[in-house]
Amino acid sequence: MLSETKFNILKQISGDFSRDETIWASGYLAGLAGAPVGIAQPALQNNPDHEITVKKITLAYGTETGNSKKLATELAGIIKKKGIQVKLADLSQYKPKDLIKEEFFFVIISTQGEGEPPMLAKKFYDHIHENELILTQLKFGILALGDSSYPQFCKTGEDIDFRFEILGAERIIPLKKCDIDYEQEAYQWIEHIFEVVTKTSAKNPKSVSAPKISTGRKKYWGTVSNIINLNDITSEKETYHIEIETDEAITYQPGDALGIVPFNPKTVVDEIIALTGIDPEKQIKTSKVTASAEELLYKHLNISYLLKTTVAQYAMITGHQIPEIRLGLLDLLRIYPVKNAEQSEEIIAILTSQAPRLYSISSSPEAHGDTEIHITVAKSEYQIDDQKRNGLCSGFLSEFQEGNEFEFYIQETKHFKLPQSDKDIIMIGPGTGIAPFRSFLWERDAAGAEGRNWLFFGDRNFISDFLYQSEIQDFLKTETLTHLDIAFSRDTSQKVYVQHKLEQKAQEVFQWLEAGASLYVCGTKDPMSKDVEETLINIIQNQGKRNQEEARIYLEELELSGRYAKDVY
Ligand SMILES: Cc1cc2nc3c(=O)[nH]c(=O)nc-3n(C[C@H](O)[C@H](O)[C@H](O)COP(=O)(O)OP(=O)(O)OC[C@H]3O[C@@H](n4cnc5c(N)ncnc54)[C@H](O)[C@@H]3O)c2cc1C
Ligand SMILES: Cc1cc2nc3c(=O)[nH]c(=O)nc-3n(C[C@H](O)[C@H](O)[C@H](O)COP(=O)(O)O)c2cc1C
Repeated sequence: MLSETKFNILKQISGDFSRDETIWASGYLAGLAGAPVGIAQPALQNNPDHEITVKKITLAYGTETGNSKKLATELAGIIKKKGIQVKLADLSQYKPKDLIKEEFFFVIISTQGEGEPPMLAKKFYDHIHENELILTQLKFGILALGDSSYPQFCKTGEDIDFRFEILGAERIIPLKKCDIDYEQEAYQWIEHIFEVVTKTSAKNPKSVSAPKISTGRKKYWGTVSNIINLNDITSEKETYHIEIETDEAITYQPGDALGIVPFNPKTVVDEIIALTGIDPEKQIKTSKVTASAEELLYKHLNISYLLKTTVAQYAMITGHQIPEIRLGLLDLLRIYPVKNAEQSEEIIAILTSQAPRLYSISSSPEAHGDTEIHITVAKSEYQIDDQKRNGLCSGFLSEFQEGNEFEFYIQETKHFKLPQSDKDIIMIGPGTGIAPFRSFLWERDAAGAEGRNWLFFGDRNFISDFLYQSEIQDFLKTETLTHLDIAFSRDTSQKVYVQHKLEQKAQEVFQWLEAGASLYVCGTKDPMSKDVEETLINIIQNQGKRNQEEARIYLEELELSGRYAKDVY
């Protein structure tokens, strides 16, 4: 295709590209050629051998953080260019009763929580699992997005793939499970779909996509250099600002998160060893590591909150009648004891690996350098039988002291990125939702960005819970922060939250949006992010003189264009 001279130039300049640079460059070149930019494009050519017998397919997606949606949108664009009509469907809006009308139905879906479907796709997931639909007319294929550091890797995709088969549908391409670097595999998948629906796989079986390059995750070793409780001593909450230093340069951008696999408390591990009678030195092999029983329980296995399926397996091994519940292993052993060492070993074998926890990074590479990183951690609390307990990882992190060392990785957050420096941003981040916005503000301050910055922050009490108060006031003084609205819910008889502050500023918020501002929401998913979204829709409806449906579409278009992003948990 290229002349030898041009090919040699291309080879020369791309020779020392990193994988990310290669993907970016190929996306850039594809963009020049008119294809959708964002990820590397496959070498799908208009092949005269392809006999297009299928006129239309449905490509549905279920997403939490936008990866599946972005991918589905890009893949739909590719397949449309090949002359096949694509109905792009969001599973949160999709009516499951329409499944019986579908012929070719493909799904891209992620797994969330501990092996759960994305929140907005749960209705669809439950519907197909709870109803005996007859889907014998349906031909399907599933692309599952996931992350192999979680024990239930790509479980939602697996479940849907299995369920469709049970319901009589025909799997025309095998389930594809993709890890964090999913782009190339996704291209192979869409190419495979194209081959199957155009019945060309027999004529042209050779894949033209590049093979998957699995980069894994880069792990960093960090030392805690500072830890402070941001709440006042009078507060009911504890939120820790933790500064971590590394010897090695860390590559991250504002909006990314830090991932950590917490260790279990030593005292709990010791008690488990005593109750099971297991030899702590005994070497045991799991699917991921081989280590002593003690080390596995301490560093690698989830013992703090077993999945329902693990509890059911525990019941089978021990012969106890146990209701369908989730419990910690220690509580389980106390209530339903094991009978012998053999059972204990079997129980270790059924434990799933410890899931990582994510924390939005609250520092900025531009302002704090590349060997320092900050996180903002709320110590989570829950109660069992009147006994107060702490969440595992936030408890573990809040006990950190200066000099403690630990391993972490960077979780890139593709959808939660700062816009160009001259664009305005509106940040809505109560509680620990402030974390990425602290990063945004420091970054924009250090870079001298001209865009205006508006922050909505809230918590319980002004006096005790105004996280990063003095920094925020400094940002106001220096006009890095052009607008600030705060809502402290327990300072007034009637609770005031960030959405009420948004409502009060409706006209100005809408003016900012119309002028091109980007909108970000971070913090608790439920109810905060839902209430904020409803308020935003009301604002667009009232200020923009639109009906509710048009207002929803307005917000959805902002999201699609990358101007409305949520990082909620
Ligand atoms: C993208 C992203 C960004 C995030 N950013 C931040 C951030 O900036 N700051 C922050 O503080 N958090 C953040 N989080 C949340 C964070 O990742 C953790 O989910 C949070 O710290 C709780 O984890 P944990 O290990 O402390 O609690 P877990 O031990 O995981 O417990 C969580 C809950 O499970 C239940 N539970 C656990 N064990 C038991 C048991 N034995 N019996 C009964 N119930 C039990 C309780 O309800 C408990 O509250 C973020 C999450 C995501 C996905
Ligand atoms: C809190 C959290 C929990 C997750 N749990 C799982 C999981 O149990 N299994 C899995 O394979 N992936 C898990 N993932 C990884 C996501 O599936 C992965 O990041 C995916 O690319 C997200 O796609 P989406 O943006 O379309 O939702 C989890 C991610 C987060 C942030």
